[in-house]
Amino acid sequence: MKLTIHPAASPLAGRVAPPGDKSVSHRAAIFGGLAEGTTYIEGFLEAEDTLATLGAMSSLGARVARDGGRVQIEGGRLAPPSMPLDLGNSGTGLRLLTGALCGHPDLFGTRVQLIGDASLSRRPMQRIVEPLGAMGARIESRDGHAPLIVEPRQLKPLNRKLKVASAQVKSAILLAGLNAAGETRVVEPGVSRDHTERLLPAFGVAVDRGNCEARLIGPVRPKAARIAVPGDLSSAAFMIAAAALVPGSRVDIGPVGVNPTRDGFLRIIEQMAAGAVQVHSIADATAGAEPVANLDVSSPAQLVGISIPAEWVPLAIDEFPLVMAMGAAARGETVISGAGELRVKESDRLAVMSRQLRRLGAYVEERPDGATVRGGRILGGRVDSEGDHRIAMSLAVLALVAEGPVEIDGAEWMRTSYPAFAQHLESLGAQLEWR
Ligand code: S3P
Repeated sequence: MKLTIHPAASPLAGRVAPPGDKSVSHRAAIFGGLAEGTTYIEGFLEAEDTLATLGAMSSLGARVARDGGRVQIEGGRLAPPSMPLDLGNSGTGLRLLTGALCGHPDLFGTRVQLIGDASLSRRPMQRIVEPLGAMGARIESRDGHAPLIVEPRQLKPLNRKLKVASAQVKSAILLAGLNAAGETRVVEPGVSRDHTERLLPAFGVAVDRGNCEARLIGPVRPKAARIAVPGDLSSAAFMIAAAALVPGSRVDIGPVGVNPTRDGFLRIIEQMAAGAVQVHSIADATAGAEPVANLDVSSPAQLVGISIPAEWVPLAIDEFPLVMAMGAAARGETVISGAGELRVKESDRLAVMSRQLRRLGAYVEERPDGATVRGGRILGGRVDSEGDHRIAMSLAVLALVAEGPVEIDGAEWMRTSYPAFAQHLESLGAQLEWR
């Protein structure tokens, strides 16, 4: 589907409550399905990715009932699914579930197939197949890619230093560790999001933590929990950027999770637009052990380009398409490096954003591990999401400050993580048309 965005004719104003956090929703669904008893989740993200994970838990025998963002899961006893588990577009769903299933005793002697869409089938899975294999897991892949066929069996614990900071790989290993006798330990070269470490204790699983390190002792079965999912900062980021880009805007956004292992975008925008975002922490609202805040955003006189410190890259990994879009409208250059991981996300985000920004007249220099975007005029025109939800939304936000309307092909991919994106942007005063 095509979405046309008109240049903003007036400042954006209003309030947006971002949808539930995608990472936390996936984990709540998986842990709830593994846990004995009934888990209650509030604020679950109703989007294609997380509903795919919930569907997979239901195919594995968990009893799932859902009313909007309220989800009830009766878990604790898994059964072999009658069909392949289809995780759609979701790397988190596929990788975490593979870790959780590959040593699950309820599934010993069975074969479970995990599949995804064309994009997910291109993404690297060797990064989980190899360490899980070192734990004794038996996983067949198609040359390191999905479909994966898992034959659950007894695992041994693992002590592993990762080469790349990745919450998905870390979480897959820790979830496999639930079924291995002894201590499983993961050490990362940098900080990655720690939702698994925060949420497992809510399900009665002790996780010890050090600097870039997580450990748990298995075997241990999670117990049902009550979880409130915070708003998703990665979705809120689009509304923050929209308000920062359109002159004179004032927008309130929240409540939203502000986990310090995930808040790189707030750090980046503070550098590009000092004082544009005021963070008001909400005490006691530590949903799923996550810190939560309301944000007041007002547009600065001008966004300025920056060099992004390499250690912030994992903290803002999903926000780089948006940062590149903001860079195209900022004064000066925005320099991203140490971000080669962007090439193995839902699309090759460095290549796709470079290509699409150029179509709007921006100057972008692409490098193997990053890009430099030089700010300037943004022209109207036609761009393509290339099947990536965050590319579609990043281009839509940038279109607000273009010189003419921007048509986005493949805009329906927004449903992957933020189905209400267009509606939320319209509620702030933007003019959009679906066709
Ligand atoms: C996620 C981890 C990140 C991120 C993804 C969600 C998670 O991936 O890009 O959208 O929920 O653990 P990596 O851990 O592979 O960097």
